[in-house]
Amino acid sequence: MPIHLLYSSISGNTRAFVKKLTEYAETQGHFTLIPIEISDATADIIETSPFFALVPTYLDGGNGIDNGVFEILTDPLREQLEIPENQQNLLGIIGSGNKNFNAQYILTARRYAVQFKVPLIANYELRGTSNDVQRVYEAIQQRLTEVQSSHN
Ligand SMILES: Cc1cc2nc3c(=O)[nH]c(=O)nc-3n(C[C@H](O)[C@H](O)[C@H](O)COP(=O)(O)O)c2cc1C
Repeated sequence: MPIHLLYSSISGNTRAFVKKLTEYAETQGHFTLIPIEISDATADIIETSPFFALVPTYLDGGNGIDNGVFEILTDPLREQLEIPENQQNLLGIIGSGNKNFNAQYILTARRYAVQFKVPLIANYELRGTSNDVQRVYEAIQQRLTEVQSSHN
């Protein structure tokens, strides 16, 4: 069964990572990953089977910890995940960001995991390395196995 990857990408890093991840999955032959980019212009998407979300971080102002969180640019993705059918089928979040942001590193993904009550299964910086691609692929595989065995 193909697994959808919903993601947003403003400066192209997440798009580049998702492309590498999808290509890597093809070489492994266990499951197919299908990238779906979400932008302002995307109509509502209803996911009817298990999928994952890749979430970059864009915070503007506030330190995100005790000083407010002002998320910019990732709202279209959040709105898609808030659709009830999608909340039911979301299996996990993969966060990305830049460690220079210290405590705010991948904060948007961490907040989504809490909001949507799903695990944050992996994280990586910027466009990710080939090591990150392999690690994220394995995290997806492990989560799929976990969910399958809990249904048996
Ligand atoms: C205005 C701005 C704010 C950012 N804020 C954060 C942040 O708070 N935490 C973090 O981990 N990364 C932050 N980043 C880094 C981005 O999440 C990172 O560059 C990511 O790879 C961007 O993904 P994209 O190119 O797919 O849009 C910020 C980047 C920009 C340009």
